[in-house]
Amino acid sequence: KIWPKAKDGSAHVARSIALAMRQKQQENKPIVLGLATGSSPIQVYRELVRMHKEEDLSFANVVTFNLDEYYPMQPGAAQSYVRFMNEHLFDHVDIKRENIHIPDGTLDMDEVEAYCEQYERKIGTYGGIDIQLLGIGRTGHIGFNEPGSWEDSSTRMVRLDGITRQDAIKDFGQEADVPYRAITMGIKTIMKSRKIYLLGWGQHKAEILQRAIEGEVTPNIPATFLQHHPDVSVHLDYGAAEML
Ligand code: GLP
Repeated sequence: KIWPKAKDGSAHVARSIALAMRQKQQENKPIVLGLATGSSPIQVYRELVRMHKEEDLSFANVVTFNLDEYYPMQPGAAQSYVRFMNEHLFDHVDIKRENIHIPDGTLDMDEVEAYCEQYERKIGTYGGIDIQLLGIGRTGHIGFNEPGSWEDSSTRMVRLDGITRQDAIKDFGQEADVPYRAITMGIKTIMKSRKIYLLGWGQHKAEILQRAIEGEVTPNIPATFLQHHPDVSVHLDYGAAEML
């Protein structure tokens, strides 16, 4: 769907998520949300917080798994995705802390592999992800699945693409401070979610979105794998949709 403004599309997506949350509440079941960071989902979170405050939307039955985290990264650091999620969503709603899962950027290298397997298993014990939110990076990454990621990849440590590190300078101040690695859910992890919302706002995303949506499926643009998913809902503003 193409929207005049990011705010309109974000409100629509937030309402859809809220509806699914309320349905699961009525059934007395948890709902599992896969969450993204970056600028793309911010207005969705803002709208969900508003609905919590003004429309009684409860997060008591919500379980979340975030897509990714820089490595290494301390949770208290300004650029950590733990901090991002707290500031934009978790600190403002009634989610149970034990229901929040974000890849751990503080592990020793030799702990990472087992940790990633455990992250996958944990998603499995909750029955998989019901709704996955996604932004897209300039390299065509989803999560931090950079070019070269395969369709059967699972949660793992990855090296960040040079372009992604360039784009992260705005958050870290200088290139030398941008981590070289991250822990990310894999393409397979993402593809197993039952419903996906891909968000893209602004003209700077137009070219990569055109290639992701209309281009040939290739690991060089990992977002193209979404073309194989049966239920992806794409929400763009006029700028982001310019090249479709
Ligand atoms: C980061 C995140 C991605 C996100 C991308 C786009 O790299 N790890 O999950 O999709 O940035 O960021 P933005 O939404 O700020 O354009």
